[in-house]
Amino acid sequence: MTDKTVNRDDAAANEAQIAVLWQEESYFKPSQSFIDQANMKDPDIRKRFGEENFPECYREYADMLTWFKPYDQVLDTSNPPFWKWFTGGKINACYNCVDRHLDKYRNKAAFIFVSEVEDEPPVAMTYQELYVRVNEMAALLRDYCGLKAGDRVTLHLPMTLDLPITMLACARLGIIHSQVFGGFSGKSAGQRIQDSGSRYLITCDAYWRSGHLIDHKEKADVAVQEAHDLGQEVDKVLVWQRYPGKYSAATPMVEGRDVFVNDLLKQYRGQRVAPEQMDAEAPLFLMYSSGTTGKPKGCQHRTGGYLAYVTGTSKWVQDIHPEDTYWCMADIGWITGHSYIVYGPLALAATSVVYEGVPTYPDMNRPWRIADQLGVNIFHTSPTAVRALRRVGPEEPIKGPQHFKHMTTVGEPIEPSAWRWYYEQIGKGQAVICDTWWQTENGGFLCSTLPALDKMKPGSAGPALPGVYPVIYDEDGNELPAGSNKAGNMCIRNPWPGIIQTIWGDDKRFVKTYFERYCKNPDSKDWRDWPYMSGDGAMEAKDGYFRILGRIDDVINVSGHRLGTKEIESACLTVPDVAEAAVVAVNDEIKGKVPEVYVSLAAGSKASSDAIVKAVNQACEDMIGKIAKPSRVHVVPDMPKTRSGKIMRRVLAAISNGRDVGDVTTLANASVVEDIRKQVQG
Ligand code: WT7
Repeated sequence: MTDKTVNRDDAAANEAQIAVLWQEESYFKPSQSFIDQANMKDPDIRKRFGEENFPECYREYADMLTWFKPYDQVLDTSNPPFWKWFTGGKINACYNCVDRHLDKYRNKAAFIFVSEVEDEPPVAMTYQELYVRVNEMAALLRDYCGLKAGDRVTLHLPMTLDLPITMLACARLGIIHSQVFGGFSGKSAGQRIQDSGSRYLITCDAYWRSGHLIDHKEKADVAVQEAHDLGQEVDKVLVWQRYPGKYSAATPMVEGRDVFVNDLLKQYRGQRVAPEQMDAEAPLFLMYSSGTTGKPKGCQHRTGGYLAYVTGTSKWVQDIHPEDTYWCMADIGWITGHSYIVYGPLALAATSVVYEGVPTYPDMNRPWRIADQLGVNIFHTSPTAVRALRRVGPEEPIKGPQHFKHMTTVGEPIEPSAWRWYYEQIGKGQAVICDTWWQTENGGFLCSTLPALDKMKPGSAGPALPGVYPVIYDEDGNELPAGSNKAGNMCIRNPWPGIIQTIWGDDKRFVKTYFERYCKNPDSKDWRDWPYMSGDGAMEAKDGYFRILGRIDDVINVSGHRLGTKEIESACLTVPDVAEAAVVAVNDEIKGKVPEVYVSLAAGSKASSDAIVKAVNQACEDMIGKIAKPSRVHVVPDMPKTRSGKIMRRVLAAISNGRDVGDVTTLANASVVEDIRKQVQG
């Protein structure tokens, strides 16, 4: 082992304070026509969900679902902070998303799949057809794989309907699905297979991305090998074919291990599988997310509480009615897609659009053509997509035929100028916008305006949702008074049904990450002593609207997706000549933030800088995925360090962002700062 160091400097990789300098904005009102048709227009709703009615208020969400057996208790707090929701209740998520709609909506589209290839017409899948397909897949999982309730299975699938079909088939049997974002590398998938203890990997041969039918099966081979190296065997790899009957990948199938799902399914044609009556608290799925340490966290979501929360928020925030055509342009491989492409919309019998490809392919008008062709009236995307579409065609959407009643942004702060463009050009001044703030761990939205009730304010996520009671703490742990306009750490005082149960296999990390810092009394059974720490900076204005300022920890938000700086640094350190690595967040016009890497080389290294840069880029792509590729890699003579040897990421971040480095005279090697500055800024 070489002596590789990754020292942390707590304040250094801090990417907060993005939005702190934005001006206070004026309000925009929803139109009367929107208000008239809205699902939630009771001005007393926040009172109804006020603290005096907590937790009973959440019955309203649970009652939107169909229960096999009613729950006895809304919230069980006997083992903080491991809250239990709707205990005693029996429920099945698949039944709620599919079966229960058949009477009324059998022949209504549940999903419309849009291929990236524009010559391939959209494919609508009715609730009846979805029911048939999910049942057949469930029969396969049960009878061919021998999987049962509580088993985990890893999915590494792109945006085709095979993904929600597989998820719902798992949910039908109580199998815990763990979908890994398709763009992540095989190694990432392998680590998640190992962590979750999956014996099956469900993947596909190929999918379209930016005009190329890319080989996805090759990642499965890497994933199985990585899982094996980490001590987890994969028995079988189930491969969906992008074009059934035709194998579209160059990577060969592995005999005895790899099988085509669509071939196997023929044996299960017409089979029906009764939905398992699951405990409300049974885990529904895992969703891995980056944190402050190298290992991604398996966020474990429960069945009853999660489904209730995404259903309630889809109804009131997304304003989904069964007759709407709803398009969330996220990937199902992220929590946004789980909650707001699949589970929430389907529980409401919506028609949900699944688009395979990149929004700007073959040109920047593709989203508007899709919206027009399908009659999309609710549109949900990220500020990154909004900024990218604005840059390539600022005048285009206004000319486009799309007509939205409602639009959502999620994942990052949206700057007021981008907000206004979204509002005026894409929404044509007629659609309401909800800027929704939440996290993988939260299950569903925590802050947003209620679209018919609250005025919109560009740059602010809006007030907390009904039943969510935020508090902002300063660095010393004091509560900032409501409406103080001061930046601090965003926390939620109370449990809500969408919060994760735990981190898979790591209860300690769950408590430490989210509760330890602000817990008032570790022996207390009272939820009031256990505020949830989000890891975001925020400020609350006088009107009760929250402005989210970004992460306060070592997490970088790239295009609304979370990357751990530590994960990227670990990837860099796999390059043999690299002795030290530091990752900083750099402002980016389109993506919000991008990771930039500094590396120093082992003494005596003879490698050229070019070779190192290439190797570092490759390592990030292989270990994590393309999304983690650094925008720039700097090979520096030495890292700026404190006298105790900590790398000063704050100094590097200042250099990368063209800011003043401040006083560095106390550093152990102050002179290197100027050398690095010249190298980076020229
Ligand atoms: C982080 C969570 C679940 C949403 C998709 C990302 C940032 C999210 C907003 C918003 C400002 C936002 C936060 C949060 N974030 N929404 N509306 N305004 N920032 O989920 O990968 O778990 O990331 O995204 O920093 O902590 P995630």
